[in-house]
This record gives sequence, structure tokens and C-alpha cells, in this order.
Amino acid sequence: MTHARQHQIQVVAHRGASEDAPEHTLAAYKKAIEDGADALECDVRLTADGHLVCVHDRRVNRTSNGRGAVSALELAELAALDFGSRKNRDSWKNRTEEPDWEFRPEDPEDTSVLTLERLLELVADAGRRVEMAIETKHPTRWAGQVEERLLLLLKRFGLEAPASADDSPVRVMSFSARSLHRVRAASPTMPTVYLMQFVSPRLRDGRLPAGVHIAGPSIRIVRNHPAYVERLKRAGHQVHVWTVNEPQDVDLCVELGVDAIITNRPRAVLDQLGR
Ligand code: G3P
Ligand code: CA
Repeated sequence: MTHARQHQIQVVAHRGASEDAPEHTLAAYKKAIEDGADALECDVRLTADGHLVCVHDRRVNRTSNGRGAVSALELAELAALDFGSRKNRDSWKNRTEEPDWEFRPEDPEDTSVLTLERLLELVADAGRRVEMAIETKHPTRWAGQVEERLLLLLKRFGLEAPASADDSPVRVMSFSARSLHRVRAASPTMPTVYLMQFVSPRLRDGRLPAGVHIAGPSIRIVRNHPAYVERLKRAGHQVHVWTVNEPQDVDLCVELGVDAIITNRPRAVLDQLGR
């Protein structure tokens, strides 16, 4: 996010190195750091007792050996589940070749539910700068709770109020402009990324919702409308693209000069970029 980095595409590990290890587990994030990822992407949700955990789906059914909505389960109940189970492994996406690294969890913590707090500790201990791209999933309890808890937790790590958006090691992403607005209202210098699965007609000229300065289009948008990336850049926005796993899509992102590639396979993308 610094100016010095502007010409180097940032490689962001989507749900950790989620092609090599079960998504959103400590194992997947350790691997991403080891692989040299510049940043880690994670989705956050609130448990019934108010903890932020890194889980993508509303329910834990797909990624663990348990069942139920995250918002209906307490942290202790989630901690009893295995997120490195067969199901989560079967959900690894886009594996195109035999891995040269075998997933072997060493510690129960590697595959238990991951709190955002534990992930921030891992990053703090990484021994190098590793940025965080934290996505707020839709709050299920009452408006503003996820964002409020997120900023409180970031405060404990001294990350809630960066000196400038350009140099922040943390950014908040969401498909919800309202969620990003809440974050900016509480922390005006926190960089925010507006995620897009499609481009709404009122944003086609490259504008973003008020207060947001980073665009997060899907790779499908980029493939189908490369000129839109140009428009975003002309409007002065950074462009962070998800989820980029195919080599030809990496090439396209390079050609278009995007700022960040969010990928399940950070090592392969870094190799392709010659890093
Ligand atoms: O990084 C953005 C991307 O993660 C958004 O989609 O469904 O994977 O959270 P999803
Ligand atoms: Ca996400």
C-alpha cells in the first residue's frame, strides 16, 4: 500500500494458502507466510458470544465436521470442531497439479476454528511485513457489531487508526458499501475495498461508493470488461482483483496494471511474477 510498492503487484493469499491447506485455518495462513505472500485475506463473522472468527460461509457445514450457523454457536462450541476435516479438504479449489507440499497439521490449533485475534498474533510474529485484507461478512445480529468489534480488536494491535490509508498494513473489504461506510466513519484513515461481483450501472464510469478508494472487482469482471479497470485507474483507484488462480488471468492482471492479486495459490503466482 505504500507508494514505493505501487508498481509491484501485491500477492494476497485468499483464505490463506487455501489450495494447499484447508481454508481459513492457521495451517493455511502459516503456509501463506512461508510462501512469501504479501498479504492475507480472511472473512470474519461474529460468534453467538461476540468473538470474531475467520469463516467464510454463514454455516460451518462445508468447512468443518460440525453443523450450524456461526452466529448461533459460541466460540467454545466452534473450538470443539475440526476445520481440517475431510470436507474442508475436499473443498480445495482449482487444484491443477499434484502439490509439492503435503498438508500435515502438527498441532490441533492448526486446524481448529481460527479467531481473528490469533491470526493477528501470527501476523505480528511473522518477522516481516505481512498485510491483512479483512472482509466483513454480513452481520446477522445487529447492525454495526462486526465493524465495531473489528476496530476494537485492531486497536489492541495498534492497527485501528493508520497514519494514512496509503501506508496501512490492514484494509477492510466488503461487498456492503454500508459496512465500509461504518468502518470509515469510525476510522477515517482505514483503507476500504469495495468488492464487486458485477458493476452496478451507477458505478460504470469508474466511481466508487463515497469514501471508498480501492476497487475489488472479480476476475470475471476483469476478463469481460478490461476497459473498466482502465476507468477505475483513471479515476485514481487502486484495483485489487479476486480470485485469480489461472496463469492466463495473472498475465491479464499484469497487463492491466492491477495493484493486488488475491489468489488461493500465492506461491505459484509469485513464481509467475518472478518473485
Ligand atoms: O477477496 C475477495 C473475495 O474473497 C470475495 O469473495 O466469496 O471468496 O469471500 P468470497
Ligand atoms: Ca472473502
